Amino acid sequence: MVSTKGNYYNFVKKELDYLRSYDLYRGLNIDDSLKGSVRIRHNYQDNILNFCSNDYLGISTRNEVLQPTKKSLKQISPCSSRLVTGNTPELERLEEMLANHRKTQTALVFPTGYMANLGTITALGGKNCVIFSDELNHASLIDGCRLSGAEISIFKHNDIHDLEEKIELNKRVPRKIVITEGVFSMDGDFADVRKISSICHSHDALLIVDDAHGDFIFGNSRDRSYSGIPSYFGVNSNVDFHISSLSKALGCFGGYVATSRRMREFLINKSRQFIYTSSVPSHLCVSAMTALGVVERGYLQNKLFRNIELLGGELCKLGLIADQPRTQIIPILIGSEKNAVKFSNLLLKKGILIQPIRFPTVKKGSSRIRISMSASHTLANIRNAVDAIRYAANKLKLI
Ligand SMILES: Cc1ncc(COP(=O)(O)O)c(C=O)c1O
Repeated sequence: MVSTKGNYYNFVKKELDYLRSYDLYRGLNIDDSLKGSVRIRHNYQDNILNFCSNDYLGISTRNEVLQPTKKSLKQISPCSSRLVTGNTPELERLEEMLANHRKTQTALVFPTGYMANLGTITALGGKNCVIFSDELNHASLIDGCRLSGAEISIFKHNDIHDLEEKIELNKRVPRKIVITEGVFSMDGDFADVRKISSICHSHDALLIVDDAHGDFIFGNSRDRSYSGIPSYFGVNSNVDFHISSLSKALGCFGGYVATSRRMREFLINKSRQFIYTSSVPSHLCVSAMTALGVVERGYLQNKLFRNIELLGGELCKLGLIADQPRTQIIPILIGSEKNAVKFSNLLLKKGILIQPIRFPTVKKGSSRIRISMSASHTLANIRNAVDAIRYAANKLKLI
């Protein structure tokens, strides 16, 4: 038999060469926390200021969360799936707390937010179903749609008229699902969940909101809850599935879906990403439960909002962004992949880490550096970042 393995190696080499020549190649760095998640060692370089962590509230290294987590450690992992012997009391308690937090009947924890998206969408999709998905939705939502076997209709980003037109065209399809993010992960803008939920209501479509970046930060100012974007816009109960990650503003690990009792029962029975994988270890449930208590106090969110205003104001003055940002995700659009990489390298020379975001995460030619603000950034950290950004933007003649 003639071996064709050589063809595969050629194919792989060509793919990697292509990525390198178009500035799309990705390599792994080694990162280690020095002090909180803000001051890190990056590729053996000490004292780098991290402006690209998802630990938006700075919870991941807080002693008040670390200590109870360490204390609770009696088994590394249940080494079993939920439906065999992996359904621990800690998981059940965490789900109850997440349901309370999200103001839904129930919640269901998944090993990651990625799997929560895949596990929900694939269980709900299938034949006789059309999914309407925002064009800027995260890769995990896109993958869930593709795997689900449903027909996929992509609507223009946050474009209510386009969504309505597309739903109208499919009005006779028995099952319709609309999927959006709450805060868009690469643009930092809000989904228009008020209008989207009203369209879902009038067209009898289910609504899924992936609020990985809005959860625990935004919420209802009246009851001072931080249960995310649907709550912030007053339409919490119009959302059928609230999906989120525990690995971003909560500073922990895992993902979850908050929904009705019936839908939870359905996911437990039909979601392959829930059934066929090991359950989340108890000490990670303890860290999430403890972190929820920290989130509810609200002072970290206030600190984060002050930091966003401060950095946002400086970036507006430099002319690098048009408006004051409303969220902790602040993209500076660069355009070419090459310049985005150069920009990021120049920042690193000044001790600031902000990774470039390129295709396929965003469209080709819309590369950017994506700043993630944290409540843990100090005034001095922000000043350093502004100086470095000014330096890089000048070097690349962007200002
Ligand atoms: C919008 C969105 N959804 C889901 C995820 C996945 O979450 P996790 O990191 O918990 O898998 C991410 C993470 O990057 C995200 O940005």
